Amino acid sequence: MSVALVTGASRGIGLATAHRLAEQGHDLVLHGHGETGVAEAASTLAGKFGVSVHHAAGDIADPATSKALVRLAFENFKRLDALVVNAGTHAAGMLGMTADATVDRLFAVNAAGAAHTLQNAVRLLARAENPAVVLTASITGTHGVAGQAVYAASKAAVIGLTKAAAKELGPRGIRVNAVAPGFIATDMLDTLDEAGRQERIADTALGRLGTAGDVADVIAFLLSDQARFVTGQVIGVDGGLVL
Ligand SMILES: NC(=O)c1ccc[n+]([C@@H]2O[C@H](COP(=O)([O-])OP(=O)(O)OC[C@H]3O[C@@H](n4cnc5c(N)ncnc54)[C@H](OP(=O)(O)O)[C@@H]3O)[C@@H](O)[C@H]2O)c1
Repeated sequence: MSVALVTGASRGIGLATAHRLAEQGHDLVLHGHGETGVAEAASTLAGKFGVSVHHAAGDIADPATSKALVRLAFENFKRLDALVVNAGTHAAGMLGMTADATVDRLFAVNAAGAAHTLQNAVRLLARAENPAVVLTASITGTHGVAGQAVYAASKAAVIGLTKAAAKELGPRGIRVNAVAPGFIATDMLDTLDEAGRQERIADTALGRLGTAGDVADVIAFLLSDQARFVTGQVIGVDGGLVL
């Protein structure tokens, strides 16, 4: 038996990851910001794969949300083997033009939310036999993108968290890695018009946008025993956007 907790699992990369993990037989604790999406995901995956799935909703910027998720794992399974810190929000904005509230929100959800989630899960994770964590960063956090400086900074924080946590938690047997997706066709890219999509495709060596499944497969690999000697890494899943 193995239990995985996935934040932001109602759609996009988180949902695809939950799907992969359920397929592999993991029991799940799923999280979404709103109740409806994650409740639907939980009942679909439980029905399709026969695994046990619990879910909860809430703003990940509020530490009470991740505390409640870990409590759910403890109360229902008494264990947590894998953690996917994926919930995140995006906003573009040129420097000098980005509202104060947007700056605060990007850091609260993407950076502080990730720190709260990891921190609240550590004690339960440490009891597992081969615990592993994957955080969803972004190529904006490794390389920067004009017009997305604050989002990029919030994702750079996720990378710092990943590397420091890998060093701190390695001696306790917990592996911590991140994925850095490029342009992935989820709701997060909905604001792009057709010309914007074509531009991003042209910048990507493999000549297409990524799918949520492309990222989920790498997350599942990093959580698996096949990656047992990999920690503190930020793995690009970007089709050669950044080389
Ligand atoms: N798509 C890309 O091109 C791309 C590239 C690089 C990195 N990423 C990162 O990948 C992760 C997943 O993104 P995605 O593309 O799958 O986006 P998505 O389809 O928009 O899904 C976002 C997920 O995060 C949840 N969420 C958003 N704000 C939240 C909040 N304040 N509190 C709790 N949950 C919240 C959403 O829940 P609800 O459904 O309930 O709203 C949803 O489950 C994010 O961290 C994102 O920054 C995405």
